[in-house]
Amino acid sequence: MSARRAAVEVHDLAPEQEDFRDAVWAGLGRPQKTLPCKFFYDAHGSALFDAICELPEYYPTRTELSILRDCADELAALAGPGRVLVEYGSGSSTKVRLLLDTLSPAAYMALDISREHLLAATAALAQERPALRVLAVCADYTGTLRLPEIPGSAARLGFFPGSTIGNFTPLEAARFLGAMHRQLGPGGALVIGVDLKKDPAILEAAYNDAAGVTAAFNLNLLERINRELDGDFDLAAFAHRAVYNPQAGRVEMHLESTAARHATVAGRRFAFAAGERIHTENSYKYTVAQFQQLATQTGFHPRRVWTDPAGLFSVHYLTRA
Ligand code: AVI
Repeated sequence: MSARRAAVEVHDLAPEQEDFRDAVWAGLGRPQKTLPCKFFYDAHGSALFDAICELPEYYPTRTELSILRDCADELAALAGPGRVLVEYGSGSSTKVRLLLDTLSPAAYMALDISREHLLAATAALAQERPALRVLAVCADYTGTLRLPEIPGSAARLGFFPGSTIGNFTPLEAARFLGAMHRQLGPGGALVIGVDLKKDPAILEAAYNDAAGVTAAFNLNLLERINRELDGDFDLAAFAHRAVYNPQAGRVEMHLESTAARHATVAGRRFAFAAGERIHTENSYKYTVAQFQQLATQTGFHPRRVWTDPAGLFSVHYLTRA
């Protein structure tokens, strides 16, 4: 379905409600209970994530922003004008503003699963920049997706900031990079932010903030299940855990049941042992070389990489080989 609303063209490709219920039933039915991290981002979860990005311990956002500020002119020269700028997981569309200032794209296409947040963010952007053609595509961008065509525009430029690629396993990341490679089409290019390997103490602090915002973000998944799937999780009985797993090169988030109990979700009952954990998120960290190797395997050509002076974070410009 697509419709024109105010200055934003809206395309609704969002999955049905059953996707959430089925994913929760399947995840909680496994010996190692898991919940897919993409379900963090309902309206409340998206707002909590925005708050995480402002935390003193959560260095990725401000570091990536400073890199983008520094490389924006060079990036615009490399990409050229008239592109359709496609942002995967656009959230509040904050970082893209740095590119819009220098890029002169033909259109901005924001893709996100969180509908209300997407509509609010794109409406604000369209109001701020009336000359810019803005499209809001509400979709699970990790699935198969056909992007709306913009006749007469130059090749697409993908933008995938925030190291969201780290929330996929390396195999899933390779598949998703391959999907973006296809979607961006001939002449396409990709700007992607990737968090780097570093001292585990810095990583663990970033996911265990003193104000407890990351804990609330993690627990919101259970709150969302209670709200949307008639769940009866006792939120006070689950604790947020975040640890760096050096073998896998990832920060893992879990929700730990502090006692033996049951919880019901959409009529199905699940047992939890004391200390049992639900694995809710992986956040993989790469070296520049590791990420470039992954990108090359999926058909991209690493053209340029920028990092901050402390080597915390990287922004890559990849073209279709
Ligand atoms: C969106 N993503 C890249 C964040 C991350 O760092 O993995 C999500 C997040 N989880 C806890 N804090 C932030």
